[in-house]
Parts: sequence; C-alpha cells; structure tokens
Amino acid sequence: MIQTIQQAASLRGTVTLPADKSISHRSALLSALGNGTSRIFNYPTSADPQSTLDCIRTLGITAERDDEGVMNVTGKGLRGLRPPPEPVDCGNSGTTMRLLSGILAGQRFGSVLTGDESLRQRPMERVADPLSAMGARVSLQDGHAPIRIRAVQSGLNPIEYRLPVASAQVKSCVLLAGLYAKGKTVVLEPTPSRDHTERMLGLNVEELGGERRLVVDEGHTIPSTTWTVPGDFSGAAFFLVAGSLVPDSELRLEDVGLNPSRTALLEVLDGMGANITVENERVQGREPVGDITVRSAALSGVDVGGRLIPNLIDEIPVLAVAAACAEGRTEIRDAHELRVKETDRLHAMAENLNALGAEVKEREDGLIIEGNGPNLLSTTVRSFDDHRIAMAMGVAGLVAHGATTINDAECAKVSFPGFWDELARVASFQE
Ligand code: S3P
Repeated sequence: MIQTIQQAASLRGTVTLPADKSISHRSALLSALGNGTSRIFNYPTSADPQSTLDCIRTLGITAERDDEGVMNVTGKGLRGLRPPPEPVDCGNSGTTMRLLSGILAGQRFGSVLTGDESLRQRPMERVADPLSAMGARVSLQDGHAPIRIRAVQSGLNPIEYRLPVASAQVKSCVLLAGLYAKGKTVVLEPTPSRDHTERMLGLNVEELGGERRLVVDEGHTIPSTTWTVPGDFSGAAFFLVAGSLVPDSELRLEDVGLNPSRTALLEVLDGMGANITVENERVQGREPVGDITVRSAALSGVDVGGRLIPNLIDEIPVLAVAAACAEGRTEIRDAHELRVKETDRLHAMAENLNALGAEVKEREDGLIIEGNGPNLLSTTVRSFDDHRIAMAMGVAGLVAHGATTINDAECAKVSFPGFWDELARVASFQE
C-alpha cells in the first residue's frame, strides 16, 4: 500500500490508541500458562499480538474473543501446552519469538520457532546462549531463527544471568524459562529495561547500586486472572511529536500506559521545549496509566544517551523526526540496538530524513541531526517494511511542504492498525 500524506494546517481531537503491544503479548502468554480462563480486556487487533495468539493456539490453547470483545484465554498450567503439530510461526514479532523460546525451552516436547523474513534475520544467540546455559537444547541457523528446541525431560538448571544487552525480551525469556528450572533463577539487569514481565508475574525485585536483581522460583504459579491492557505509549509517541510540530494543534490521548520504564520520551520532549501535560494518573491492574494532552511548540535540539535509551528505544525513529524539525543539533548515542530491530532503524531514518532535505548523519550507535526548523520538503520515502519507520515518516509527512508518499505503508498494522485513518481524522489540511 502506498500512503500519501499532505502537509497539515493543524491537528485537533482525541486520538484512539491501540492497546500496548508489550503488555498484550505478556497477558496472552501468561494466561496460557495459568490455570483456567483469564479474561483480557482491550486485547488489540494489531498483527504482532495476533501472532502471539496464533502461537499459543498452535500449542493447544484456546483463545477467543467473546461478544463483549474480551479475549478469553484458557490456560492449562505450566505443563499444559501440547506439542505443536507444525513450526510455531511468530510472524514479524521478536517479542513473541524471544519470550516463547524461554517457555518452550523448558518443555518435555520439542518445537521449532520461525517467523517472517525480517524476524529470521534478527539475532537470536541472545536468547539461545542463556537458555543453553540452563541446559536447554536449542539450535539456531547462523545465529538466527528457525530456533529448534529439543525436549528436556528433567527440567532446566537455574542460573544467575547478568544481561549483556539491555533487552526486556531477553530478560523475559530467561525469567519464563526460570519457571521450568529446578530452583531459583536470578536475572541481573545493569541497565533497566521495560519491566512488564516482572510486574505481571509479581516477582521480587531488588535494586543494588543501579543494578536490578530479579528472582523467579521453580514452579512459580500463575493464577487465571483479568488483565486490562492500557493504550500503547509507543503508539502515542507518534501523536506527541506530530501534535508538537504541526502548528495550531491540540491532541488528547486517553488511558495511555505510563510505566516509567517506557516514557523517557516525555522527559526528552520536555527538554526540547514541548508543551505536554499528563493528567488523571492512576493505576490500572499493575500498570500506571493517565491522559496526555499535547499542544504545538517550537522545539530545540537535545542530547540523548545512556540509561535513558532502553526506556525510549522504540520511540527513537519519531524522536528523529522531532529533532529534524527542531532548531539546533540533536545527538542520539548508545542506541546500537536500533540496528537489529525490524530493520536497521538508524539507517532507515537517516536515509528517509535526508531524502526530505534534513541533515542527518549516522553514528555507529546513533544519529547526529542538524535541526533546521519545520522545513522538510516532501518526496517519496520507504517504510523498510518496519511499522515504526512507516509511522515516523507519516509524522514527517504532516510537516513536510507538499505531499509525501510512503511506500509499503500497510506495515503500520503490526502495532497500530488504525494509524493512517487516525492521522487523517485529526488533521486539517491547508486550503
Ligand atoms: C519489547 C522489548 C524491546 C522493544 C520491543 C518490545 C518487549 O526489545 O524494542 O518493541 O515487549 O519486551 P528488546 O528487548 O530487543 O530491547
């Protein structure tokens, strides 16, 4: 699908957000391991969370939406999955593959995890290494999926694992494998990443000198429960930047997940001069949520790096758009992980923003962006089949003079199925 975006005169209204992708995956997987039927309110139709449902169904779990739109997942306990009759297909979803590999590594049956072309190019040693250290029998193809897992009859060995990369997916993989280990599995996290898994499992977390220590016990039981998935902060990010850059704008985003391990973009945009207010902060289940209002503002450049990066890793593509339309230089450091996402996001953003007339240089671990105010010039750009690149370029298109064309834009549905309609609904265009 080719999407054309006109320069907008203003953005106004209340944006409907999809439910949070990270929390959705976890709610489905934990429900599949629970005893009995869990009800998940606000489970999204986005492609990645649907991949997780497809996977648990391949493993013999029933997951059905009822007449009220609630997703009912009937778990059969930690040992209730059935051997998959075919490879378990994770589609485009790295979170599905890495979390599920932890669960399947502990099973008394073998399995194969596979995915689409992009997912089969992403690094999987990061999960195979700790799982092998636990005694799992995992093999890869040149470091990539398909991941072949052979049965272990006697349970995994507990390990103490210090994460070599700040990755919530790797952390969660080891914690989930720890459910099948004989004793206490410990994960040490030098740089904190999103903490949904430990919250949702109700794990004990200690902080020692800036490092987090998470412990999961053998057979930690997961009761059937009710989950309510909040609005996706990572989806909100596109509108926070768009509402800041497009003149005469005021957008409201309601029931947005505000877990502090996800919201570093708010801090960075504040430092750039954005006009964003957060209200009605409350706790829903185990996650903080609130309502956000963004109004237009002139932005200035900023330096971003270090411990903040994992807490805005998915927001960096759209932050790059904000930086290109700000005044002054922005430097983004310590973000090498962006090179191994659905595409190489540093390269994709540099190529696309330069095509729109911005001045962007790639660093090995980030970007240097010479902001020149909202002066992008429209042209044709590529999504690289990456949902966050497509949506970030949609935001750039609202600001660029003229009409911007985005190729292969349908991939937005991976995390935000209604994105293009929502953008058009809140935008007014110049006569
Ligand atoms: C996610 C963790 C992050 C993030 C991804 C979702 C998760 O990946 O980029 O979109 O839900 O655990 P990494 O663990 O690779 O940093």
